[in-house]
Amino acid sequence: MNNHDGQIVEKVKEFVKDKFIDFEGSHDWYHIERVYNLAKYLQEREGGHLLVIELAALLHDISDHKYNGGNWDEGSRITKELLLQFGLDEDNSTKVSNVVAQVSFKGAKVEEDVVMLESKIVQDADRLDAIGAIGVARAFSFGGSNNRHLYVPDLEPVLHQTKEEYLNSVSHTVNHFYEKLFLLKDRMKTKTARKIAEERHEVMEKFIAQFYAEWFFPFSKK
Ligand code: ADP
Ligand code: NI
Repeated sequence: MNNHDGQIVEKVKEFVKDKFIDFEGSHDWYHIERVYNLAKYLQEREGGHLLVIELAALLHDISDHKYNGGNWDEGSRITKELLLQFGLDEDNSTKVSNVVAQVSFKGAKVEEDVVMLESKIVQDADRLDAIGAIGVARAFSFGGSNNRHLYVPDLEPVLHQTKEEYLNSVSHTVNHFYEKLFLLKDRMKTKTARKIAEERHEVMEKFIAQFYAEWFFPFSKK
């Protein structure tokens, strides 16, 4: 990466840090920083355009549909505008913006059409941070900030068919594991991420098994 591009990455980092530092724990600057580090780790092993990957990792949640009233295209539009302002060339700005458009999970039954290696890497990095011990912590932080119950017996998970259905669903946080988090291991797009996901997946399975054991104590879940 040349000096000019390196400086753009640093400027974007400062901009994003400043914007996200006070966000709730599931989507704060530290989530973005972890995704950025994971994406660089994956790029070292899987290849792909480093500059595009670094910038897309930093900007992947810049305007999230969960927080902007359901506008799925806003993030990629803002990304392109910002990068051009920061002095990045048109071609790379468009590439980063396309990656940002593809990263988000849109529902259990919604088909995914991710072809660029750079998109696969940033998506895998974002998803690795959604599972494991951090995944558990983030889910309950998000649930808490949205006033959701930890768990409601008999309220079954729904495997959403459309992204709108997924976005508008209101359930308890344990259901989020079935509606998204347990599905991510098999949806990793790179070999390196698939490997890392295995251990993180097991951590979540153990957590949920223990959760039920305590919830239904001294009985067991029906
Ligand atoms: P995506 O764009 O794929 O949704 P994000 O990085 O924006 O990915 O964050 C998704 C994370 O937000 C989830 O992994 C989870 O931690 C949290 N989250 C989102 N929806 C819910 C929910 N309904 N219940 C609990 N946590 C949620
Ligand atoms: Ni994210």
